[in-house]
Amino acid sequence: MLKLIDGKQLAQKRREEIRQTVEQLKSRGIVPGLAVILVGEDPASQVYVRNKEKACQEVGFYSEVYRLPETTSQEELLQLIDDLNRNDAIHGLLVQLPVPAHIDEKAVIHAISPKKDVDGFLPQNLGSLLIGEPAFEPCTPKGCIDLIKQTGVDIAGKKAVVVGRSNIVGKPVAMMLLRENATVTICHSKTKNLKEELLSADIVVAAVGKSNFITGDMIKDGAIVIDVGMNRLENGKLTGDVDRASLEDRDCWLTPVPGGVGPMTITMLMKNTLESAMR
Ligand code: GUN
Repeated sequence: MLKLIDGKQLAQKRREEIRQTVEQLKSRGIVPGLAVILVGEDPASQVYVRNKEKACQEVGFYSEVYRLPETTSQEELLQLIDDLNRNDAIHGLLVQLPVPAHIDEKAVIHAISPKKDVDGFLPQNLGSLLIGEPAFEPCTPKGCIDLIKQTGVDIAGKKAVVVGRSNIVGKPVAMMLLRENATVTICHSKTKNLKEELLSADIVVAAVGKSNFITGDMIKDGAIVIDVGMNRLENGKLTGDVDRASLEDRDCWLTPVPGGVGPMTITMLMKNTLESAMR
């Protein structure tokens, strides 16, 4: 029987833990603060930013949201980032991606202080993760590890296969699994024998961006499958990278889409902001 790992429930539990810690901090006069900058009117970004704002309210953070027009210049944006870097009420700062084409995304991310980079996107934080020093961990990978641990299965010594090598998910989640003493393989579009690699995996992290890319015949019995995919079908339905129907009668663990990794990502953003305030 397929066992689902409930990300919605775990996210709620983590948010409640964060809320309680925030209450304690407030009694000492500290209020964690997150600033979010959105440039332009990308519909998906608007939803994400609204959800981040709501999550801040839920856990008791101070939040500032800057909704800037599409025509904002790079200089204006960099000036705002500089101001927020210096603002002591703000412990976490992010610019929602993508930014409009006339703005250099890399320059924008690099302008954020590594001490406030609660997305964990900066080389300083990714480098610290690589060498095992304290860092802001990227939110989606951090959520994946928390979800895997919910199964009660010990990650140490397990074979983990990560499909996808992005800087935001694939590479950092591989590093975090390695830190947990898994034996880690990263697969990607040029990998030969993907099925063979997957069939040897005790833990699979699918971050490909293709609906139904991974099917039950590629998964071994007892495996934990973390589906990071968020693919919008033509009919508007949200699906992951894993074909759930083909795993339905199998003795495996799976994070559903929706309701798996998704709810954990913003929760981990709240956790990183809390950690920043506590520093
Ligand atoms: N756009 C899509 N996901 C993210 C995210 O996690 N952080 C930022 N800054 N932009 C995004």
